[in-house]
Amino acid sequence: MPHLVAPSLLAADFLHLDRAVALVNESEADWFHLDVMDGSFVPNISFGQFIIEQIAAQAEKYVDVHLMIDDPGRYVESFARAGATGITVHAEACTHLHRVIQQIHESGAKAGVALNPHTPVSVLENVIEDVDTVLIMTVNPGFGGQKFIYQSIPKIRQMAELIAVRNSRAIIEVDGGIGLQNAQKVLEAGARVLVAGSAVFGSDDPADTIRKLKAIDPNPVAYV
Ligand code: DX5
Ligand code: ZN
Repeated sequence: MPHLVAPSLLAADFLHLDRAVALVNESEADWFHLDVMDGSFVPNISFGQFIIEQIAAQAEKYVDVHLMIDDPGRYVESFARAGATGITVHAEACTHLHRVIQQIHESGAKAGVALNPHTPVSVLENVIEDVDTVLIMTVNPGFGGQKFIYQSIPKIRQMAELIAVRNSRAIIEVDGGIGLQNAQKVLEAGARVLVAGSAVFGSDDPADTIRKLKAIDPNPVAYV
């Protein structure tokens, strides 16, 4: 299965969200990535169910909701009702991660778990069979437009190994500082979903940037 591109609307023009939604719908992008920040788990506040409900009503693609909030189990149901196709919670924000994964599935959504840059892959050893997506943060969460952390590359490989050893269906998503300059490297390491905010919406031609991200070949054929 080819890799997926998930533009993050955090970098879009919020006075014209309808345009950003139409752009993603009409582009080669695969998913919408929506970043929810509570000002406590991360030092920034973004948007919640109310905005997501309106985006989801227009979205014609997978709605990937990334919850950067404390104790996210409290809100799983309401984000599912708002239209999330997949809900990702941070391992660091859940005292009972296994229970929250069950809650997400019970809500009818795909379950994702995100790991901050300092959180080891081993945290997921006992739940990896139950998750649909693993989101490896390649910056510290909270803001768009930050610099990619290069130590993430071996971590993506480790995660891909864990998934293979356990025969898990989970796919790896990378988020933070992803763009045309490093997409091939993260794909080669085992990532399957590229989240990109500023690289897409900060470019002169977002649809073209999405097309280029989709066109990256992680295993280029050697031409003689
Ligand atoms: C960061 C968010 C990201 C953010 C990525 O905390 O989780 O999804 O929008 O933005 P860029 O691609 O600009 O790093
Ligand atoms: Zn995100």
